[in-house]
Amino acid sequence: MPKRRRCPLLVYAFAFYNLGMFQLRCTVRDCQQLLEQRERELVCHAGHCFDQAKQGYWNLLQPQDKKSKNPGDSEDAVLARHRWLQYGHANSLIETLRPWCVTSDLEANSRTLDLGCGEGSFGPALFSTEANSYCGIDLSKRAIKLAARGWPEATWVLANADRVLPAADQSVHRVVSLFGRRPISEIHRVLVPGGICVVAVPGEDDLIELREQVQQTGQRRSRWETIADDMSHAGMEVMDQKHWHSNVKLEPDAIADALAMTYRAVRHSQKSRLDAVQATNVTLAADLLLLRRN
Ligand SMILES: C[S@@+](CC[C@H](N)C(=O)[O-])C[C@H]1O[C@@H](n2cnc3c(N)ncnc32)[C@H](O)[C@@H]1O
Ligand SMILES: [Zn+2]
Repeated sequence: MPKRRRCPLLVYAFAFYNLGMFQLRCTVRDCQQLLEQRERELVCHAGHCFDQAKQGYWNLLQPQDKKSKNPGDSEDAVLARHRWLQYGHANSLIETLRPWCVTSDLEANSRTLDLGCGEGSFGPALFSTEANSYCGIDLSKRAIKLAARGWPEATWVLANADRVLPAADQSVHRVVSLFGRRPISEIHRVLVPGGICVVAVPGEDDLIELREQVQQTGQRRSRWETIADDMSHAGMEVMDQKHWHSNVKLEPDAIADALAMTYRAVRHSQKSRLDAVQATNVTLAADLLLLRRN
């Protein structure tokens, strides 16, 4: 259960503080009022309160927003992704994304919302000087705890990004979805006009060698064009598109992580094929989109 309760009326006798620069909204069903920070609590004007977890994140998840006890990516997948990013396998991807994530002096203090931020490596890698204006959202408690530990100066929220996003209308300047969630109408709602959205999805040849060897499904499926069409129809114009590609030699441990973190967790029947895999050259690929809200 989220730590939510009604605050005594006395609360209103105290001054409210803003939550950094973010305009987060209450997630109690049909409330959606703005949340304001009072020390280690977020409070809305209807009196709903959310305590800050000791690890520093805010739990805005409602019981109806989760289908299981531990929603979001499994602990195994989160830890595999964490190790993978620590190996540095996404470093050149970060450099490819960087030009789209530069905040000019004119736009100082523009807010970034990262949907499905995971264990939180991309935030500080791309927005290191903008902790006050960065907010990561993830459904996995394990992931958001790791993220909050890694970059405590930023804002981290446990919430379901497939529901109503916990951000005010037109309050965000940049939405980032890196292999994460894409609730299109909600992205449009929270972005300011002219705000941008950065999307990354796995490329059709991502991990193709492993999929062929271990899972024996070498199917190639490109997703970005459909996503670009869907987002265009919702009022977001494609400004740029890139394909990121890298080839790395992976040791067996890294191969197991690569499979575990990409929802392609190895089934029992595939385990023996995975055990037999030696160090292998593997393709990493992603399609990247830069969109602008009309
Ligand atoms: C493939 S990971 C990507 C994480 C991070 N963006 C990265 O690239 O390292 C997808 C993330 O989305 C999260 N997720 C899944 N469903 C979600 C939802 N409905 N709302 C928010 N996050 C969700 C998972 O817990 C996981 O951390
Ligand atoms: Zn409320």
